[in-house]
Formats: sequence, structure tokens, C-alpha cells
Amino acid sequence: MPGAIKLGFGPLAMPTRGVLVVFAGEGLRMGEATRRALGSARDLLARVSRAERFTGKRGTSLDILAPAGLKISRLICIGLGKEDLKPFDLTKLGGVAMGKIPAAASDATILADLPARPITPAPAAMVALGLTLRAYRFDRYKTKRKEGEEEPAKARITVGVADVAGARRAWAGQAALADGVMLARDLVNEPANVLYPEEFARRARDLRKLGVAIEILDPKAMGRLGMNALLGVGQGSAHESRLVVMRWNGKRGGQPLAFIGKGVTFDTGGISIKPAAGMEDMKGDMAGAGCVVGLMHALAARKAKVDVVGAIGLVENMPDGKAQRPGDVVTSMSGQTIEIINTDAEGRLVLADVLHYVNKRFKPKFMINLATLTGAIVVALGNEHAGLFSNDDTLAARLGQAGEDTGERVWRMPLAAEYDKLIDSKIADVKNTGGRSAGSITAAQFLQRFVDKTPWAHLDIAGTGMGSLQTDINKSWASGWGVRLLERLVADHYER
Ligand code: BES
Ligand code: MN
Ligand code: ZN
Repeated sequence: MPGAIKLGFGPLAMPTRGVLVVFAGEGLRMGEATRRALGSARDLLARVSRAERFTGKRGTSLDILAPAGLKISRLICIGLGKEDLKPFDLTKLGGVAMGKIPAAASDATILADLPARPITPAPAAMVALGLTLRAYRFDRYKTKRKEGEEEPAKARITVGVADVAGARRAWAGQAALADGVMLARDLVNEPANVLYPEEFARRARDLRKLGVAIEILDPKAMGRLGMNALLGVGQGSAHESRLVVMRWNGKRGGQPLAFIGKGVTFDTGGISIKPAAGMEDMKGDMAGAGCVVGLMHALAARKAKVDVVGAIGLVENMPDGKAQRPGDVVTSMSGQTIEIINTDAEGRLVLADVLHYVNKRFKPKFMINLATLTGAIVVALGNEHAGLFSNDDTLAARLGQAGEDTGERVWRMPLAAEYDKLIDSKIADVKNTGGRSAGSITAAQFLQRFVDKTPWAHLDIAGTGMGSLQTDINKSWASGWGVRLLERLVADHYER
């Protein structure tokens, strides 16, 4: 896995070399094991803390170079503050710790120990998750590095824990999750000349190694199924469209869960072409599909006891002599006809056919789709929450809770029949845009016309999937948003 660091677990003890990271709460309170490991170095830490006025406040840190009397090269103390730490706070702390370790370090030890309680295997794995995600870099295309430019971390990272065997077992599941997030980030970061629909499908096909069943439909196969809404979007591209269906059967029996992703590998807007400024970001218009692939990886790699279908519609939206025009009418697989008003409202056309196909073929327990669907959701919610639209209160509430628990937060937006008239067409059943007002809602109303009564949630991730704010656990352009959220949803409610 690119970007992965060498990470292992060891005892809660003073290392003989490299960087040591410890945690301290307000008033410099440290865990029992940390105090023991530091031994006489506690005096040094206390003295430097006084001199530097470091008191253990959350978000602050202390960095002692070449601490006298010790073999380590650096002692770093990270402030925890006084609040109770929740699992995601531990992941963030891992990220903060990784951020403090100099790139040139060859060895680093992080003592996963807190003042209030001895840290057990599961929380230690949460810290390790943060360490790993923070260390991720997308540097495949860097052939040289300028002096002082951030280097990929090469350190061997040891997480000091009380129960090494237990931590290793707990980490197996979190490592699968970390790999899923990094796979999603890789896909989103990859430029569109490299990652076009066929190449995306090839990468998704690699999940076969984990026991995921993969089917790849080409335009001919999709044409036979009547997927003219999806095919219309891709018809102006030199690259053929693809539909990838991934199945993980960890339980066998009953209705599967279904996750569906928008995979527009590049969105120029088509004939309704976008302005030049910032258009390069539209290589990330497949973040929904990237998340679905990352999620399937995470679930399969830890052999989750659940049956899941992942389906991604892969197209490139280009202007061309063969491209679809505003005013065209297409017949979707569901039989509903769609008047194309704006060829830049292409994601909903792709999803219309994939949602209908998955619903009809698999009769899933629920469908959750992810899509970088509207600029309007970025105006409404910025980069901190994804827009959540759902026809099912239980599913919406579960997603809300999983969002709070993972830090991948969602904000529920309304669906209502009254909005439907904004997308009623004069000449077809529906039109693909609804004018300036309520842009994210009319997009969701459009999707809902293709899901029938199945419990469904639509996550508009235009603001969270890419170009996202730099956080404690991500320094790359792509966030891999949604993999942790949905993995948590599955683990909390649908396994076994
Ligand atoms: N992929 C875009 C939405 C988007 C915008 C994603 C910014 C990420 C960042 C989508 O296909 C699109 O172009 N939507 C249009 C819809 C409009 C034509 C109704 C939009 O939001 O302007
Ligand atoms: Mn578009
Ligand atoms: Zn788009």
C-alpha cells in the first residue's frame, strides 16, 4: 500500500534510540506506565515544561532535543487537555503525534498511555490508525524534492502498549480500515489522464485478491440493460464507460447492504462546459466511487460478517462532436425519460441508472449512495459536514451517530414532494436540473425518483471528499471521506 508506514507494537518502556512521544494531560498529568518509562527523565520534562510554560493543554506540545542522560534523540510531549477522550480523539492524537515526528527520524516510539486509564488494545489501535493516516502522502509523481520540503516519513514506528498481543489483534481490523481509506485517497488524488473509467475498473478488480467478486460491465452490456442515462454522460469521451459491481459475502443469506458511488473520472461539464478556474479539481469527481472501493477493501480485508454490494458508475464527462446536448431526452433503465437541461448535472444521470439497477437486481436492505454531486452543498455546509438526504429516519439517525463517532459528520437536509415540481419537465418525465434555488435538494429529489421504497440515503460529498481542509489525520488533497463513516455504520449495526 503506497504511503503506508512501518508500524508495530512494543512494550510501554523507554526506547534506546530515536524519538519518544508521550502524552500528558492538564497539569502535566501522565499515565502510570509513562511515568515509569520516563524514570528520572520526568525531572527534566518538568523543568523544561516550567521554562516553556507547557501545561498539557490540548493542542500544545513540547519538544526536547537530545535530552541529557538519555539515549533517545528527542522527547516530545503532547498535551491532552482535561476533557474525556473519545475514540476519534485518540485517532486525532495519533495524527498529531505523527505530525511532530521529524521526517528524518529513523525510529519513533509512541507510548499509548493516558493519565486517567491504562490504554487497552482497542484504543491503542485507534491511535495507530491516526498515525498511519497522517503519514499518508501521494508522492507517486514527485521525482525530486526541494530542500526542506516535507518528506515521506520513513521512520519505523513503535506504539508502546501494555498488551502487545492484544494490540496486534485490535490493529488487524484498524489496519484494514486504514488501507481502505488510503486506497480511496489514492484513487481520488490520481490525475484523470491516468485514472479513466477502464483504469478505475482495473484497480477495483484488484479487490478480487481479498475475495470480493467483481463484475465489470462495458457500454455494450449497459446498453442491453437500457442504461441510457449513464451512457449519455460518457458518450462524448474517448474513454469508454464502465459499471463495476463488487460483492463481499461475509455472512451469506438475507438482503445485502448496497453502497453506490458516483465515478465521474473527470467532469468538464460537457457541452455546458465549466469555467477554467479550478477545473482541475474535477479529477476528484469520482470521490464517491473511490469511497465505495475503499469501503469494500476495508470490509473484505477484515472479513466482515456482512453481505455487501458496491456499485460504481464510471464515466468521463467531455465536450465533443459526439457529446450529449442540452435539450436531449434519454430513457433511463427504469423507463423514466429525462430531459437534459444542463450536461454539467451529470452525476445524477449516472446514479439514476446505477441506483435502479442495484435496487432491482439485489433488493438490498438499504442503499447508500455517495456523490460529489452539487456545488450548492459546499455553499450550504462548507467542508465540515456532508449533506445527508434520506427517506428513512432510522438509517439517517444511524449515519448521524456514526458521523459523530468518526468525525466524518453529516447534516440532514430535507426532501419533500413540493420540491418535485422544480424538476418536472414539459416534454419528458423529469429534467436534470431545477434552477438556481435549492440546488442540492432538487438533485436529491431527482435521485429519489430512481429508488422506489427501499430505505435510502444520499450523501453529497462535494465539500468533504476532496480539496478538503487539512486535518490532524490528513495532509493530502483527497480525504478518503466516508470510508471510516460507513465502516462504522456497518460494524455497529449490520454485522453478524
Ligand atoms: N461535480 C459537480 C459538483 C461539484 C462542484 C463537485 C464542486 C465538487 C466541487 C457536478 O457534476 C456539477 O457540475 N453540478 C452542478 C449542477 C448544476 C449544473 C445544476 C453544480 O453544482 O453547479
Ligand atoms: Mn458536473
Ligand atoms: Zn460532476
